[in-house]
Amino acid sequence: MTGLIVALDTTDIAQARSWADATASSCEMLKLGLEFFAANGPGGVRALGNGEKIFLDLKLHDIPNTVAGAVRALLPLRPRLLTLHAAGEAAMIRAARAAADAAGDARPRLLAVTVLTSIESTLSEIMLRAEMAMAAGADGVVCSGHELRALRELLGDDALLVAPGIRPAGSAADDQARTVTPRAAAAAGADWIVVGRPITRADNPAQAASAIAAELASTPSPLEGEGRGGG
Ligand code: C5P
Repeated sequence: MTGLIVALDTTDIAQARSWADATASSCEMLKLGLEFFAANGPGGVRALGNGEKIFLDLKLHDIPNTVAGAVRALLPLRPRLLTLHAAGEAAMIRAARAAADAAGDARPRLLAVTVLTSIESTLSEIMLRAEMAMAAGADGVVCSGHELRALRELLGDDALLVAPGIRPAGSAADDQARTVTPRAAAAAGADWIVVGRPITRADNPAQAASAIAAELASTPSPLEGEGRGGG
């Protein structure tokens, strides 16, 4: 089944905790990005819960030695998922994976960001970068709902596919240009969807999250029955 991740895009730790509490029964993970991390650091991440619930979206991108050092520094937080830029190329991703492997089975799963959605790109470029990232040791990619089927076919069933840019039918697109619904993302084989404002800006975040979780639960996944850990 496709799992729900709520994006806590705020610098305010009390606000983040309140969203986390409101969505606890329907969300598998909390996505904390640069905005939150810059304001609250590792202590802020710990305050949100144990690592098993944490998706650290820090989009690491630097020389291999520096990225490896950053991954090592993050290991004590035990994040379940961690992002890095595929633009850092294979050597950087290999170094990140080697650093993550020091944590053994509890290591963070590494997700490659292929091309930022704010930058013009083509599906073939995204596919090339995704393939390179997986060959270098990434566990999966962050991709748009529109790329899920092509990437699943290219990367196989073991790749973790995480899709942001999700909007429930009838909700505001905000600044997301090409959205898909939770149902469409689940049917296309996403392991997790990332949803921010449709939950955090809702009058009732708990209700918004549980409605999305119910939509996911009622959508058969193409990967169903294969014993995936992705929920
Ligand atoms: O509020 P909304 O649902 O649009 O939030 C989506 C989250 O996913 C944000 O944290 C955003 O940074 C992230 N994201 C995205 N598109 C990408 C990569 C990440 O919207 N391509």
